[in-house]
Amino acid sequence: MINLNQDTITQAVVKSFEGTPDARLKEIMTSLVQHLHAFAREVKLTEEEWFKGIDFITRCGHITDDRRQEFILLSDVLGLSMLTVAMNNEKPAACTEATVFGPFHVDGAPEYDLGTDISNGATGTPCTVRGTVRGIDGKSVANAMLDVWQSDENGLYDVQKPEVSGAQARGIVHTDAEGRYSFDSILAVPYPIPHDGPVGQMLEATGRHPWRPAHLHFLIKADGYETLITHIFRNNSDYIDSDAVFAVRSSLVCDWVEQPDGRYLVEYDFVLNPKA
Ligand code: BEZ
Ligand code: FE
Repeated sequence: MINLNQDTITQAVVKSFEGTPDARLKEIMTSLVQHLHAFAREVKLTEEEWFKGIDFITRCGHITDDRRQEFILLSDVLGLSMLTVAMNNEKPAACTEATVFGPFHVDGAPEYDLGTDISNGATGTPCTVRGTVRGIDGKSVANAMLDVWQSDENGLYDVQKPEVSGAQARGIVHTDAEGRYSFDSILAVPYPIPHDGPVGQMLEATGRHPWRPAHLHFLIKADGYETLITHIFRNNSDYIDSDAVFAVRSSLVCDWVEQPDGRYLVEYDFVLNPKA
């Protein structure tokens, strides 16, 4: 393994992984090296560009902490998150489709009774959210857990506001015996993903915007069914056709209807895939 040149180095690196005990790790490392080298050859990567790339990744690391995950953001804006979701969530057409998780879910959100207002100080236009959870066979799913989270009217999640310590506009509810859920919150609005770091600079340099259309996140778990991670989107929201993270599916777009008293109402019925 000496005197390697641009024609022999790829095979040498691939060979270095030959003794990897874990077969899947070996497959992934081999393919990664082959694709990375092919990419460098295809674009004829200069040393200056290589260094810029290293600097970009370094800056992603420096800005990442418990509250900020620049690497997931990078994966999101490159479409890698949505590609991975799409490849791993193929299910019958009748099922509710999955979409990206995003970086703003928090474990251990407060549990609420059905019908409770979960906004807890997050500002925005009041909005009631309700519907059902069923299996593909149409049977209602009782006691399904719905973990929901959203931004406030300024486009900020509670975890993005240093002055907020508790949960705002996030919480957990469980369906009743008929599979029904309901809670009050605030109207979802479009918001930009965090763009004050290296990912934002990359978006700007490539003429892209950082906005996501108005949406509400759901993580749904129920015994006997596959876990569903998804959002519902507001019909006619700005950016519905140009989501910065490529996560919109038309089956998840629904009407959020203004009521005579100015509140909004959105109804959405989820269909879960039974576990194999
Ligand atoms: C979100 O919807 O919370 C989100 C998803 C991907 C990147 C940033 C935010
Ligand atoms: Fe979001």
